[in-house]
Amino acid sequence: MHLQRTQQYLRSISSFVKHRIPLAQALNTRIKHHSTTSTSHPASSHLPLANTTALITGASRGIGLAIAHLFAANGATLVLVSRNVATLAGVLDGLPSPFFPPDPAFTSNSSLASHAPDGYSEDASSAHQAPDSRNNSSARHQILTGDVGSPTFWAVLKQRKLNIELLVNAAGVTHASPLFVTGTQCLEEVVRTNLMGTMLGCRVVGRGMLRGGGCIINVASLLGLKGGTGSAVYAASKAGVIGLTRALAAEVGKSGIRVNVIIPGYIETDMTAGMTPAAREEALKSIPLGRFGDASEIADAALFLATNRYANNCVINLDGGLSAT
Ligand SMILES: NC(=O)c1ccc[n+]([C@@H]2O[C@H](COP(=O)([O-])OP(=O)(O)OC[C@H]3O[C@@H](n4cnc5c(N)ncnc54)[C@H](OP(=O)(O)O)[C@@H]3O)[C@@H](O)[C@H]2O)c1
Repeated sequence: MHLQRTQQYLRSISSFVKHRIPLAQALNTRIKHHSTTSTSHPASSHLPLANTTALITGASRGIGLAIAHLFAANGATLVLVSRNVATLAGVLDGLPSPFFPPDPAFTSNSSLASHAPDGYSEDASSAHQAPDSRNNSSARHQILTGDVGSPTFWAVLKQRKLNIELLVNAAGVTHASPLFVTGTQCLEEVVRTNLMGTMLGCRVVGRGMLRGGGCIINVASLLGLKGGTGSAVYAASKAGVIGLTRALAAEVGKSGIRVNVIIPGYIETDMTAGMTPAAREEALKSIPLGRFGDASEIADAALFLATNRYANNCVINLDGGLSAT
């Protein structure tokens, strides 16, 4: 199994390098043009997230992926987290350079799925307890695979002593079922991933920010405020994330750590792709803007929170007006 994983790594690294060469050449051309030996484009140092390292959980798909693209385009160095190394390797491959805008196609989950070798999920499950990292050959971004709900994952991350100034807790799962028929295992998975994962991330990465300040952005859900049939467990976990954000914003603001939360309504991602046509129709009827949001619209809010130095305890609803109905 170990050998198999190593081979998979080498294959994905060689495909990564293969794709990166033209970009590296373009970069060299520009550097020469500006007569500098610096390894980054001169213009990139003026980007809002230049010299900032951001850890993003749930970066393999949907909202976390959109945030990763926008942050990378704005100069951040990224640490990408999810449970699936192959998917993250594909994400790494598609990240924009700091001085190029994000590719609009990145929000398409199907295009990303094509990066993942078949049958990898079995291998990914074995990576839960031991984060696995790989440096990007352009020396900027890296990936870490593991389960955010596992204290071991965060303990291993802590040992790596990464200097993270920006944390986005976007990893999340949902199970739509009435509480009385929801099994304990399912209940635990939702609470462990959504609430414990966010809390552990805040504790480990936030403590590291005590050195020089930083910003934490949590992703909750409108269901955490409003409730909804079949969402008791998910709603409870997300209400917890909102409470956690508020308390932490008061607790660590004086240390220069800003803590904020985004509250999305319905967003077009894998998470909503499984809705029945009837449920989708019903949801659309109650959204004043008449559509689901795009993951890039949540990423815009994350960039605002990351860069606005007075943003602390911000609770940003992005739901097309659903919360008003
Ligand atoms: N889409 C919506 O309508 C909506 C609305 C409100 C709130 N939200 C919230 O927004 C966040 C992002 O959701 P999304 O719509 O982008 O969902 P998504 O497309 O299903 O992506 C979920 C992400 O979380 C990661 N993840 C799940 N469990 C994990 C675990 N235990 N450890 C590490 N990573 C894990 C997944 O990665 P792997 O599977 O590769 O591990 C994936 O990257 C979630 O917190 C969700 O609750 C979404």
